[in-house]
Amino acid sequence: MNSSLFITLIALAIIGALAYFAAIGFRGSGRTKDVPPNLDKYHSDDELETNHLDRTLSVAVLVASLLTVMIPLYYLGEQNRQEEFVEYFDEVSVVRGENLYEEFGCGNCHGVDGSGGAASYVEKRSGVSVTWAAPAINNVFYRYDSEEIRYWLIYGRANSPMPAWGLEGGGPMNDGQLDDLIDYLRYFQISQQEELQNIEANINSALLRIDNSSLQVESEIVRQVELIDAINIAPTQLPIVEEAVSVISALIEKENGIDSDEDGLFDSVEIEISAYSATISEALGTQVLNLNPEEEESIPGRKDLSIVRGYLSQLQSSEINLGILVEGKEKFLDEATSGLAFLEEALENELWVVDFQEIAERTYEGDYDKAVRAVGIFNAYCARCHTAGYSAGAAYTKKIASGGLGPALRSGRANIQFKAREDMVDFIIKGSENGKGYGVNGVGGGKMPGFGAVLPESDIGLVIDYLRGMMPDA
Ligand code: HEC
Ligand code: HEC
Repeated sequence: MNSSLFITLIALAIIGALAYFAAIGFRGSGRTKDVPPNLDKYHSDDELETNHLDRTLSVAVLVASLLTVMIPLYYLGEQNRQEEFVEYFDEVSVVRGENLYEEFGCGNCHGVDGSGGAASYVEKRSGVSVTWAAPAINNVFYRYDSEEIRYWLIYGRANSPMPAWGLEGGGPMNDGQLDDLIDYLRYFQISQQEELQNIEANINSALLRIDNSSLQVESEIVRQVELIDAINIAPTQLPIVEEAVSVISALIEKENGIDSDEDGLFDSVEIEISAYSATISEALGTQVLNLNPEEEESIPGRKDLSIVRGYLSQLQSSEINLGILVEGKEKFLDEATSGLAFLEEALENELWVVDFQEIAERTYEGDYDKAVRAVGIFNAYCARCHTAGYSAGAAYTKKIASGGLGPALRSGRANIQFKAREDMVDFIIKGSENGKGYGVNGVGGGKMPGFGAVLPESDIGLVIDYLRGMMPDA
């Protein structure tokens, strides 16, 4: 029953009772004016034991039966109300979780809607600045339970850009905040159907990445060479920038002259700044200003004064950056050159290349498409944990499935851990459980996701055959 109806009924009953007593009171007060109540004549014994008693008893029965009906009704309503409360608290928790998601910038890496993104990161092995892929988390409940998700939130993921968020892991959030965050993650999960619809696109982009890896590493080599040049040239640029900052500042603050276009810069200053900007532009790679003393906006839409202020602040920030480079020159140069060597070696070895034909013949009776799909699935769904550096871009120096956060799987190791294929299928479907053994000597850490809700069994089978078919490395 609706609780407001119940309250209305109670209120009506109370008002009725009050009215009844008031009416008796008025009647009595009119009658007992001269005679005190104890001397007044009351009902006869006969009447008291029959009519009057009957009436009192009927009222009692009526009230008792009303209560018998009302109490269970109230009780039923109460349960509903409590469910409404729970729902209300859930909603509040989701809203708080959403605030945490924004406040702590999860969306900067995982996307505002949790569909995945990227983070800048200096990869530990190579010292190269990379763009590290951050996985989608609007589907994370399809591969982990909430305790496993909590673990990743508390401790983050070492050797990756994912920071620790829980107090135990050295992060800022307490248990209640983590609860809210997890409620929010649960709330924004996509439907399983949508998740399954992503499979083809995920496989295709993983395969495309293999094709593009050489190009990608080449362009990273170009960037690395530019970085080394920038470090080398910094000591010559720094004094030029320092002088430019003081020259331009002094010119802006000059106190007298003629200002034809009344833009806040004297004519002579506009001419001098233009000329000066031309003299330093080559050494610093900065722009040349062409200020017209007759024109308030030498570049239409921007006031000359604001152009010059912008120019000055550019010079000031490059002064700071160059200062840092000069200060740590040896260290930066070391890192950048070893990063370059790493990339060059990667380009030479091309360890990301897979021989589909060979896989097809060895494992799929010559079925090339199956081999391609199996590698696509592995790279799209497994490589980020089982091939070191995969999330950093090209898996520069490591062969496919050579191990990362998760154990190495190549060289037919899967056959050693799982004697029977069906045990391996079962493991990939369910994932690992914290503290629970698997295979011959595996100890689950709850870190291996379950793929039963993410990939059809046919695809799981393909990737398992691929891993089981891998030959021991020479
Ligand atoms: C600086 C970037 C960054 C920020 C900020 C960040 N993450 Fe992550 N997160 C990552 C990366 C990268 C990974 C995957 C690490 C790897 O490659 O193993 C990850 C992994 C995860 C995972 C495990 C998913 C899986 O399937 O492996 C969860 C869950 C997660 N993040 C949630 C969050 C939440 C919630 C926040 C905000 C409180 C957050 N992350 C903030 C970069 C970030
Ligand atoms: C988020 C990281 C992650 C992803 C993604 C992942 N794994 Fe794992 N995997 C692990 C970890 C970690 C272990 C070790 C068990 C543990 O710590 O829970 C593991 C264990 C395994 C093992 C047992 C290896 C052994 O020798 O003990 C196999 C086989 C395996 N994973 C296959 C796969 C396959 C196939 C995929 C893709 C469909 C995959 N994994 C995706 C992290 C991952």
